[in-house]
Amino acid sequence: MDSMASAPGKAILFGEHAVVYGKPAIALAINKRATITIKESHKDYTSIKSDNIGLEAIISPETGLKLKKGEIGILNYILKALEFYHDSKPIKIKLEIEIPIGAGLGSSAAVTVATIAALDKYHKRKTTLPSIAKRAHKVELEVQGAASPLDTSISTHGGLIYLNGEKKIDQIKGDLKDSLVIGYTQSEDTAKMVKLVKERMERHPTIINHIMDAIAHTTKKAKKALETNDKECLGELMNINQGLLDAIGVNTRSLSDMIYTSREAGALGSKITGAGGGGSIIAYSPNRTGKIIETLKRKGYNAMKADPSKKGVIIEH
Ligand code: PMV
Repeated sequence: MDSMASAPGKAILFGEHAVVYGKPAIALAINKRATITIKESHKDYTSIKSDNIGLEAIISPETGLKLKKGEIGILNYILKALEFYHDSKPIKIKLEIEIPIGAGLGSSAAVTVATIAALDKYHKRKTTLPSIAKRAHKVELEVQGAASPLDTSISTHGGLIYLNGEKKIDQIKGDLKDSLVIGYTQSEDTAKMVKLVKERMERHPTIINHIMDAIAHTTKKAKKALETNDKECLGELMNINQGLLDAIGVNTRSLSDMIYTSREAGALGSKITGAGGGGSIIAYSPNRTGKIIETLKRKGYNAMKADPSKKGVIIEH
């Protein structure tokens, strides 16, 4: 029997970078998923295949890993999960992924979470969400060297999340259905962007500290705007957050262009989502996402609708 599990990507709505300095952030699971299917194999090697990202690899006891097609990138997370949570028995792994890879939208966390959950099913292990989230974070740490538990936690649990300054994660209310558009390009290394902000902070501590405080106020007010469904306020707060992200040095010309293009096409608010320096933007346009997507695409950008996903990891039974 196949063992199948899927997990969602994520987008940060408010508070990126400030969260590194103990400020709150708001993030959500999006309805773009990574799905892992595991089958028994009668060959003497394990195969990993993804048609939609053109990836093919085999692992055999004699020759080790052989990458036949595609890039190693996301495969590293599957390999590490196998190393930790599988024995050496040959299996066939299929990855289907709707989340753009390397755009700061949590593709690696989703692949890791789905792989661990599918392996738990395959090995008939009793599993829990906290255990999946914890092990997925361990895999991300091993592969990346550093990783916040935010991506793996959202991917496992789903929903709309408020991360308070003390790293406590709370589900919050908010109606974001039919409202969000993500425009994306290849992202810059998150660690590099965090370092860049740190250096600016060291050159101008008083100013940047005040900006981080202003981002924190914006995030707290956004939580209230979400809970009361105050759309105009939420959009305006996104635009304020964007101005502050620009001030700490993570904006680029193309991100800015996507942001202003969305606003001109009717978005109530739009901003960078994630580390910036490349990567993605998020635009808020209740019931008018189609127009924003069409306008961004006409200008040559990648864009997709992103509905929130209440569900985190799903293990098929
Ligand atoms: O682009 P992402 O999804 O890696 O988001 C990075 C968010 C930062 O606040 C910039 C870094 C972090 O670890 O929180």
